[in-house]
Amino acid sequence: MDKLRITGGGPLHGEITVSGAKNSALPILCAGLLTADTLALENVPELNDIATMLRLLGHVGTHAERQPHGGVTIRADQVDKLEAPYELVKTMRASILVLGPLLARFGEARVSLPGGCSIGQRPVDQHIKGLAALGADIKLEHGFVVARAKRLKGASIRTDMVTVTGTENLMMAATLAQGRTVLENAAREPEIVDLAELLIKMGAQIQGHGTDRIVIDGVDRLHGATHRVIPDRIEAGTFLCAVAATGGEITLRAADASHMGATLDKLAEAGLSLEYGADWIRASMRGRPRAVSARTHEYPGFATDMQAQFMALDTVAEGTGVIVENIFENRYMHVQELIRMGADIDIDGHTAVVRGVPRLSGATVMATDLRASASLVIGGLVADGETVIDRIYHLDRGYQQMEYKLRELGARIERVSGRE
Ligand code: EPZ
Repeated sequence: MDKLRITGGGPLHGEITVSGAKNSALPILCAGLLTADTLALENVPELNDIATMLRLLGHVGTHAERQPHGGVTIRADQVDKLEAPYELVKTMRASILVLGPLLARFGEARVSLPGGCSIGQRPVDQHIKGLAALGADIKLEHGFVVARAKRLKGASIRTDMVTVTGTENLMMAATLAQGRTVLENAAREPEIVDLAELLIKMGAQIQGHGTDRIVIDGVDRLHGATHRVIPDRIEAGTFLCAVAATGGEITLRAADASHMGATLDKLAEAGLSLEYGADWIRASMRGRPRAVSARTHEYPGFATDMQAQFMALDTVAEGTGVIVENIFENRYMHVQELIRMGADIDIDGHTAVVRGVPRLSGATVMATDLRASASLVIGGLVADGETVIDRIYHLDRGYQQMEYKLRELGARIERVSGRE
């Protein structure tokens, strides 16, 4: 298993380009199942999760190919399997996003229930409830969701909680249903808007995307389109947390500050000075960051996917930060590892109290999930001495060439390929 070796202590300086958004590319790839025409996508990040999704699409019979410079083409004109097997789904929960499109286009789908995940139980009951409301006959058999519907019928659906992939699954399914579907309590993330924009280019009739009420008027078929995936706001936020912790000055190219309001507000509170334009963000930090407190919330609130990175920042900040994780029940796996690096953190249920210390000390730590890995990288960048992070396959799921980008910014970081 690969490891990352980081020698901490220096500031970050330079420019990097933010990659396409993983959590937009994943549902957008699945939208390719809704038509027999070709989808030509740009700015699809080169990540393990994307590779898994391309494998899954290939498994059902889709021609899904990578093109140069971040392109991907998809053509689902010879789909011959309507099943997502456990082997693929267990490595990536977002596989559930093939359920809605397969059901809507082919009238049938058999998708393995995603197993648990280290950050929480993460059920898909709302996906199932919504598809049933659209008229699907759904059974849970031998660990699979088995769904059938001659043709889905539009309905009014209110999910019990805001769910990102739940909203995406139901929105995609509704594009080919008969009649109008209204999604109440819909997720409002930029990735939802990006997916809706693609579906509209494919001929879907969607309004209200980006609000908590999305209206979809079903059509008989969708056609091909070309689309450029939005920048990854979580990758951008991760690099900004890093420079707020280490000090220095960096510029992010191809970043979209308009998707990052809550993150940028918190970073300014921590003392990062920020300038930004339509597609760039410049950040500089002098001296020690101030501790910030944050409560995770659905978009446009403070993103749960930024929680671990801000905690790493707080571990070396002036003062005490209080972080509350409201979205997932177990998203503090990074805490024990940060404590091994000398952080002073107390957890009480969903609340973490982080008392800033002048410096962390390098240690051997273990990544447990995607964003926890990012927080350990930030810890390693500011720690005295050497930090070795094990199991960084977690990091590779969601960050394209993290060590190359950090080296471009002057960090002393290298990948050590594991023997076992
Ligand atoms: C998406 O996961 C993201 N993944 C996650 O990013 C992100 O953390 C999460 O949204 C919240 O923003 C992708 O977009 C591929 P949810 P998702 O459904 O859709 C509960 C990363 O780091 N829930 O919005 O799975 C659920 O347990 C990943 O890139 C149900 O109970 O999250 C959670 O507590 C990690 N039943 C809450 O709702 C359901 O049917 C929000 O989950 C669905 C969700």
